[in-house]
Amino acid sequence: MAKVIRKGSAPSLHNWLVLSLLLLFRLGEGGLQLDYYSESCPRAAEIIKEQVQKLYEKHGNTAVSWVRNLFHDCMVKSCDASILLVEANGIVSEQKSDRNFGMRNFKYIHTIKSALESECPMTVSCADIVALSAREGVIMLGGPYISMKTGRRDSKESYADVVQDFIPLHNDSIDVVLSRFQSIGIDVEGTVALLGAHSVGRVHCVNLVNRLYPTLDPTLDPDYGEYLRGRCPSPQPDPDAVEYARNDRETPMVLDNMYYKNLLRNKGLMLIDQQLVSHPSTSPFVDSMASNNSYFLDRFASAMILMSENNPITGDAGQVRNDCRFVNKG
Ligand code: HEM
Ligand SMILES: *[C@@H]1O[C@H](CO)[C@@H](O)[C@H](O)[C@H]1NC(C)=O
Ligand SMILES: *[C@@H]1O[C@H](CO)[C@@H](O)[C@H](O)[C@H]1NC(C)=O
Repeated sequence: MAKVIRKGSAPSLHNWLVLSLLLLFRLGEGGLQLDYYSESCPRAAEIIKEQVQKLYEKHGNTAVSWVRNLFHDCMVKSCDASILLVEANGIVSEQKSDRNFGMRNFKYIHTIKSALESECPMTVSCADIVALSAREGVIMLGGPYISMKTGRRDSKESYADVVQDFIPLHNDSIDVVLSRFQSIGIDVEGTVALLGAHSVGRVHCVNLVNRLYPTLDPTLDPDYGEYLRGRCPSPQPDPDAVEYARNDRETPMVLDNMYYKNLLRNKGLMLIDQQLVSHPSTSPFVDSMASNNSYFLDRFASAMILMSENNPITGDAGQVRNDCRFVNKG
């Protein structure tokens, strides 16, 4: 910017226009920036990275949780850590929504936040913890480094009553899913790439039995179907039972394109996964991602950035929560 001004002897109308345009673009980005904490908490990103690594070494599945967190927080209105609010002071927690079933490891967010608070009190938002922990989680799972902006602020409210308007069901149609993602600026290819997150983690039997009983879904490989019936022996599983199947039997803790290879072999776990192959707008992308892991990872990284920038709270709006579970007092 300095260059623009020095070029002429005095700032011309043209230069002011360029400057205002640059400013406008900055605002258009929603006020997020790379390394937002460079002065207020220079080690913020590093601290989050260290904590995510330590947690991963103790509880490997935390990395998986951070990836899902980003989707469930950012998709619902805004990347604002509303997902982290628990039942207290009139707040109804989003965590209690059916659509957030199976989410876990929230208690370890506190570990990350505490490490930040001891170095830079009341500075780093919970929303940025959600974003950067997902970024580091992806690395723990063998995925790429994703260059994410920071500067998100935390919501003062929960959107528990509208979660179902944003987060699709395990058996929704591809058209529903595509329109949800399109409404936050993610195209068909980006949506197919993001679902590649189902290359890691688990699915509980409640989300699978529709495909297994009373008859096996014909789009399911029969041997795989029998295997899944073994994992989920009851057509009416107890939702509290720890009965689940791994998303990817071969590389369950690696974020890779095995997910798409499995889909092509009719070994998609949920209906939403398997339908990516049969829908004409998504199936070409399943093919390209199944045949090229780097291609998948590139598309995944770009779509994660878009998702992480959905409608953030910035500037003076919202707050930086002291404890990610509660809105600040007073
Ligand atoms: C159409 C969109 C999606 C639907 C309907 C969906 C649905 C689900 C369901 C039902 C589960 C299993 C929960 C359980 O039974 O424990 C699950 C797991 C998971 N989802 Fe999604 N999901 C979608 C998109 C995404 C996206 C975009 C991401 C991240 C980029 C993601 C990341 C994950 C992860 C990592 C798990 C495993 C969680 C764990 O093991 O704790 N999902 N998803
Ligand atoms: C989708 O799954 C739910 C249970 O999770 C079930 O109640 C509903 O009937 C299913 N919908 C379709 C269209 O299969
Ligand atoms: C795989 O994808 C990468 C990254 O998009 C690309 O550079 C490479 O050329 C692709 N390889 C093949 C064999 O198409």
